[in-house]
Amino acid sequence: MRRRRLLFSLLLVAAAGTVTAAVPQPGTAAPAATPLDRVIPAPASVRPAGDAFTLGAGTRIRVPGNSGEARQIAGYLAGLLRPATGFALPVTTRGGADGIVFRLGGRDTRGLGAEGYRLTSGGRAVTISAARPAGLFHGVQTLRQLLPAAVEKKSRQSGPWRIAGGTISDAPRYAYRGAMLDVSRHFFTVDQVKRYIDQLAQYKINKLHLHLSDDQGWRIVIDSWPRLATYGGSTQVGGGRGGHYSKDDYREIVRYAASRYLTVIPEIDMPGHTNAALASYADLNCNGEAPPLYTGTKVGFSSLCVPKKATYDFVDDVIREIAALTPGRYLHIGGDEAHSTAHADYVAFMDKVQPVVAKYGKTVIGWHQLTGAHPAKGALAQYWGYDKTGAEERQQVVDAAKRGTQLILSPADRAYLDMKYDKDSPLGLNWAGYVDVRRAYDWDPGSYLAGAPGSAVAGVEAPLWSETLTTSANIEYMAFPRLPGIAELGWSPARAHDWDAYRVRLAAQGPRWDAQGIGYYRAPEVAWPTR
Ligand code: ACM
Repeated sequence: MRRRRLLFSLLLVAAAGTVTAAVPQPGTAAPAATPLDRVIPAPASVRPAGDAFTLGAGTRIRVPGNSGEARQIAGYLAGLLRPATGFALPVTTRGGADGIVFRLGGRDTRGLGAEGYRLTSGGRAVTISAARPAGLFHGVQTLRQLLPAAVEKKSRQSGPWRIAGGTISDAPRYAYRGAMLDVSRHFFTVDQVKRYIDQLAQYKINKLHLHLSDDQGWRIVIDSWPRLATYGGSTQVGGGRGGHYSKDDYREIVRYAASRYLTVIPEIDMPGHTNAALASYADLNCNGEAPPLYTGTKVGFSSLCVPKKATYDFVDDVIREIAALTPGRYLHIGGDEAHSTAHADYVAFMDKVQPVVAKYGKTVIGWHQLTGAHPAKGALAQYWGYDKTGAEERQQVVDAAKRGTQLILSPADRAYLDMKYDKDSPLGLNWAGYVDVRRAYDWDPGSYLAGAPGSAVAGVEAPLWSETLTTSANIEYMAFPRLPGIAELGWSPARAHDWDAYRVRLAAQGPRWDAQGIGYYRAPEVAWPTR
């Protein structure tokens, strides 16, 4: 009791400014550097040590002379840091041990894998080492989060720009860390997609799954079936104008995503979710009649005509043209909610279509209903079930996993970013229930599907369906703050999983999003700093 009172009076004295030796003067005190353990996704290993490194007007970014990619990443980093710091931050291949130093390859990076990195900070340098450029890029995202949040602003700020001393050694738990954007229910422009890509990259997401076709809109030019885009893409949910990507638009998205170390995975959903295609070509319909375009939000009413030859001419052309535009190895063929396709037809359809994907050099991804057919060797199944998913359906997925089908986990009541947070959410749907921030984070992909071997889990994905979303602000309100939680499940080791620690790290992201102009949902279970 007495000790506590003594401590209290000392604090009072200190606050009054009469004790000066140990207490920095107001106005001259530099803010403490962000602790190394504030990063999202949580790094595999964090060891604080020694003095901070401070970014200054003379800081250079030193890159190895033999890597154009390293130089590009350095240019990207400089572009991020220049506006707020006001520093020139020249990128140089001149050797030296001070400043921001990139090291690529070399013996000490061998254990870091394709995407890992080591960041060492202290004294005159912060050094990022990696075996591959992707690791340098992910290290850069960590470096950003170690600087004060104001570094994310677009106008000059006062600093100081300190990075705490120590070492982070980091590599992902899963190779597949995805986000899906539905550009069919509402169309999003190339610039809107790029904005989302930049946000995903901050949390080390490495796959962008684009849901390019659905009942309400076909969003990419197919030269051999031109009406898909011009007519099938001419509207969207609610009846607005819709839109579509030219092939050059799509190439630009692929290029931009690659510059942020994300691979684009195109999805053409079939045999259901195909009204936009059926409306564009009468010949694709079993009765030879094209239905009208659809701008509502029902599901399960459309199907390609499984017995008809034209269907496979169409599928072959579409897959050929999309595969030719897509450098990544995966092509997603949907396969969900084919409620208007007889089961035998569904199986026959998938048996015919999966080899077409292989013929054009790609690997199939399908929604998990594909496991009710015959998933091709090497195919990935994306599980989107939730608590109400029937035991039989779940078991089908588990059995496929035991036979070697790899899984992407997107449980709808955890990972679907379009579910409402709670009953008051102004945007989103609630068919899988409400998904608050804790619920989105507090599960383990490795053990989520009881009975499926942990080794069958390729990773996680956070889908964002756009029935209720029309703007980037809408996307961001739903994705933030849940997306970083899914990203952490994909990247961080299982032993790092801890809601109480996570919510503190998450709160520290709020000022970064404010600085970036991201209008996130200030979820009540997180103690966000006051604005
Ligand atoms: C889905 O949500 N229908 C994959």
